[in-house]
Amino acid sequence: MYAERVAGLKSSAIREILKITARPEVISFAGGLPAPELFPVKDISDAAQKLFLKYGSTVLQYSITEGILPLREKIASGFHSDTGTIGADNVLITQGSQQGLDLLSKLFIDKGSVIFTENPSYLGALQSFQLFRGDIVPIASDENGIRPNDLLERLRRKRPALLYLMPNFQNPSGSSLSLERRRKLIEIVSSHDLIVIEDDPYGELLFKGERLPSLFALGGSRNFIYMSSFSKTVAPGLRVAYVLADEEIISKLVIIKQGTDLQTNTIGQYLVDEYLESGKYFTHIENLRKMYALRRDCMLSAMKRHFPEAVTWNCPSGGMFLWVKLPEGEDARRLLDRCLRRNVAFVPGQEFFPDGSGENTIRLNFSNASIEKIEEGIGRMGEVMRETFL
Ligand SMILES: Cc1ncc(COP(=O)(O)O)c(C=O)c1O
Repeated sequence: MYAERVAGLKSSAIREILKITARPEVISFAGGLPAPELFPVKDISDAAQKLFLKYGSTVLQYSITEGILPLREKIASGFHSDTGTIGADNVLITQGSQQGLDLLSKLFIDKGSVIFTENPSYLGALQSFQLFRGDIVPIASDENGIRPNDLLERLRRKRPALLYLMPNFQNPSGSSLSLERRRKLIEIVSSHDLIVIEDDPYGELLFKGERLPSLFALGGSRNFIYMSSFSKTVAPGLRVAYVLADEEIISKLVIIKQGTDLQTNTIGQYLVDEYLESGKYFTHIENLRKMYALRRDCMLSAMKRHFPEAVTWNCPSGGMFLWVKLPEGEDARRLLDRCLRRNVAFVPGQEFFPDGSGENTIRLNFSNASIEKIEEGIGRMGEVMRETFL
């Protein structure tokens, strides 16, 4: 009765964990949620009032599939992200980046198409690629991102329809692609003429140092498609994100989007545009960076005090996630069962590995819990770890 493509579909394990963590007594490091107390509620509500005065009923009307022009112009000029030199015709506004992934999957993936990803990678992207029956091939990755030599090795045997990467503070591990690897990757991509999706919802959340240039800015729109979102920088409920690409790719995505939802919600786009226009975005981002860095530092310090010595972790310089490694042979899912009994939750890292490895890894979100909850939750996790494998 159902289409072939839905035969192997299963609900993501993360969604199942998130159902449990909705209980108020649970301290959750499981979701990927921004901090709601830091949403710019007052400024967004001021922007709403202003835009109704300014545009009236236009804000409630259908608008074009590409997205409203003032917002596309701001994005093209690098207002929100590191975009290189492009025009409004290189921009498509999408209903969240998740829709960008869906549209790009529809454009590039046939049954059996090969998609190279980092290992681990973002679950929402994997789900989208799988829905279109892509064959996901994970490439070895470490704290500096995907390993160029492993990519080259794979390319000797397979030609992918897509290479999907998150170069900044990736979900789940928080790692970033080093500048040296970015350069090497550009060489490999252009010599093999690959299509790369650069998914960058966390790049703006940089805690210190210089922002590394995007692959799109370095390598250009022949081989690179860039995506970012206002979900993590302003608010996810707006569902406003964008794809930057070559005009031909954008025009095909526009046709696909017409068949999907006609357009991204008009009011959300105007709200984001008016908020950017107000200039308050920049102070908001500064504040977010400061607050998230504080939470990351608090989590690092609590882990140092509470976790057994055999447990290790990284220190991402931005984003929303930390990556923890349990001793070899330990199972993070078993630890999760015990932690849930103590009302603290996280996501076992194995969920994010297309090759099923990473049994002893954990993703911890630090953006969504208060300093007090981080201290309490990490303390509880430390106790359970000591009971479980010491
Ligand atoms: C890497 C990555 N891409 C895309 C998304 C989807 O974001 P949205 O649809 O809210 O823009 C997320 C959300 O967590 C993400 O982590």
